[in-house]
Amino acid sequence: MDAIGEIVAYEQAALAAIAAATDAAALEAARVEFAGRKHGRLRDMQALLGKVDAAERPVVGKRFNEAKTSVETALEARQKELARPKTVAGGLDLTLPGTPVRLGKKHPLSQTIDELKDIMGRFGFSVAEGPEIEDEWHNFEALNIPEDHPARDPLDNFYLAAASVAAANSVNAAPAANSTAGSPVLLRTQTSTVQIRVMEQQKTPPIRVVSLGRVYRPDTMDASHSCMFHQMEGLMVDRGVTMAQLKTVIRMLFSSYLEHDVSIRFRPSFFPFTEPSVEVDIPWGNDWMEIGGAGMVDPHVLAAVGYDPDEYTGFAFGLGIERLCMKRHGITDIRRFYENDVRFLRQF
Ligand code: PHE
Repeated sequence: MDAIGEIVAYEQAALAAIAAATDAAALEAARVEFAGRKHGRLRDMQALLGKVDAAERPVVGKRFNEAKTSVETALEARQKELARPKTVAGGLDLTLPGTPVRLGKKHPLSQTIDELKDIMGRFGFSVAEGPEIEDEWHNFEALNIPEDHPARDPLDNFYLAAASVAAANSVNAAPAANSTAGSPVLLRTQTSTVQIRVMEQQKTPPIRVVSLGRVYRPDTMDASHSCMFHQMEGLMVDRGVTMAQLKTVIRMLFSSYLEHDVSIRFRPSFFPFTEPSVEVDIPWGNDWMEIGGAGMVDPHVLAAVGYDPDEYTGFAFGLGIERLCMKRHGITDIRRFYENDVRFLRQF
């Protein structure tokens, strides 16, 4: 074999040994064999170089230097590669792409709220917000619930102590003109409060809004009741709004959210702020389940916010968001929503 052939053979053997080294010890052995200065194959090559004819020396010398550089480079690169930690205690492979952590999800109620907003948006309803700490004007009076009405009984409401009132005023948006400064405040019992806030803000109809949020009632917790739950309020006011439109909107909303055609039942009822009033039921097993209340906005309410009841009519509804979500997913206990058990939450 001529000198160039031997250099090429050396280079190939060195690169192969370096690539085959799977740990630091094997790589060190390859380094000693192919790049060690005292003995080993590098020494052999240098000895070979000394025997080459003077005429050939520049060419052979050049090839030798190339081989030496490529072996050194390969050694260095492989050393870096092997030094990178692949695993740490616990078997976590840091070199794997992406994240091994399971990503979190939106709470099923937040998902439901997003979907309901989306569906109502397609029906032309925009979203309004209102405070959870309310004054008596918005929670009762403007909704035609007078002072002596049993719904205002302190035992049926979470009134806040006087000390909380100052805090409430800083939490709430600026109280509406009609609210009495210094009047008692409470955790709202219904999202119907937002009907009033929207109509106070907008001097004339048409109005099409929904408002979704928490309400509070001192109910005993059981599989279908909670002292805090979520409602979606809907309000539409315009010339010529009818109860047939109310029923159509609710039925289309349910059919859209539950992804199949749903029959709904209107049961005659009473709310001080709607006339006529109904309870809204949906099929539940072999029975019906009450999912909210609805009706035509009482003319007194329209008058209280300065709308002419002879010119405008409106409908309103308030629906339980938990119950809708339970119906869709077959959840049988409302308390699951509030326990933060990830085994439950992960399923949605
Ligand atoms: N606010 C009523 C409740 O919480 C529901 C309702 C809303 C009824 C709008 C009529 C109109 O029970």
